Amino acid sequence: MILITGATGSIGRPLVRRLRAAGVPFRALVRDAAKGRALGCDFAVGDFDDPASVEAALEGVDRLFLNGAGALPVPGEQPMVRQQKDAIDAARRAGVQRVVKVSVWHAHQGGRLAEGAHWEIEQHLKASGLGWSLLQPSGFMQNFVTGAGSFSADGDLVGSYGDARVSYIDCADIADCAAALLTGPYGAGETFVLTGPQALTQAEIAGMLSAALGRTVRYVDLPPDELAATLRSQGLPARFAEDVAVLLKEVAAGSLAATTTAVQDLTGRPPRTFAEFVSANREALAA
Ligand SMILES: NC(=O)c1ccc[n+]([C@@H]2O[C@H](COP(=O)([O-])OP(=O)(O)OC[C@H]3O[C@@H](n4cnc5c(N)ncnc54)[C@H](OP(=O)(O)O)[C@@H]3O)[C@@H](O)[C@H]2O)c1
Repeated sequence: MILITGATGSIGRPLVRRLRAAGVPFRALVRDAAKGRALGCDFAVGDFDDPASVEAALEGVDRLFLNGAGALPVPGEQPMVRQQKDAIDAARRAGVQRVVKVSVWHAHQGGRLAEGAHWEIEQHLKASGLGWSLLQPSGFMQNFVTGAGSFSADGDLVGSYGDARVSYIDCADIADCAAALLTGPYGAGETFVLTGPQALTQAEIAGMLSAALGRTVRYVDLPPDELAATLRSQGLPARFAEDVAVLLKEVAAGSLAATTTAVQDLTGRPPRTFAEFVSANREALAA
């Protein structure tokens, strides 16, 4: 039995669809029973902030897909660190064999926001004695639907990427890689950097969105300091705004520009292109 956490998220939903289609026994952890019913699969209601509920959901589970919310604008330690460490400890007590965890590309000690938080969780998992596989994705194509790709209020893209390229990946491909690792013998003790098939500039993405949506989407490039000031003016804490600006400086220097063969290696087919993503998500992108 597999437990899927983050089952209602950008990766979790396609993962649920894929495992259901394959007839693989699994359970989804959801915070809200109505969302569980909408998934149309076996589910347990639970919350990372209620360790007993996670413990109960892990009964009879041998593989765990570990994923939750990204970095939050909160002071101090990111909640995901405590939440996922607790889930790993509960998995060990429940006799889970392997944890497949969604991390982030360039997770490292002392890294800003998700990069540092995921690194800490990775270390905890590696030291737990459990089998593990780590997925370190590049930026998600789905950010352009959820808003994490920074559409401004008037529908343009805003960032500090300059002309840098980003090898955005479709979350459906992350889900397919997770499915391969959750159902097959591969990948124990391995870390996979997952990218899309090509790296694109924000201007190229704005052009593709313009063509698909039938309106002009511009890319507005701001110096990092100005971007941080904009985020602060939107009410985000100063430290969070600074961390975002620092991370975007790294991306502007090309930190997410490379592509890897990991999706092809794990799934036997190439990752989806940005054009395929746009065509499959036209309605959500237009909303
Ligand atoms: N966005 C990117 O470009 C990117 C790139 C690399 C790595 N990542 C990593 O990918 C992961 C997923 O990020 P995302 O923002 O895309 O996620 P997402 O789609 O928003 O999904 C988050 C999932 O976690 C669940 N969740 C949140 N808090 C929970 C809690 N306290 N207990 C149980 N479940 C909880 C949510 O359930 P509800 O439906 O109840 O809210 C949802 O199913 C993050 O760790 C992030 O660091 C993101």
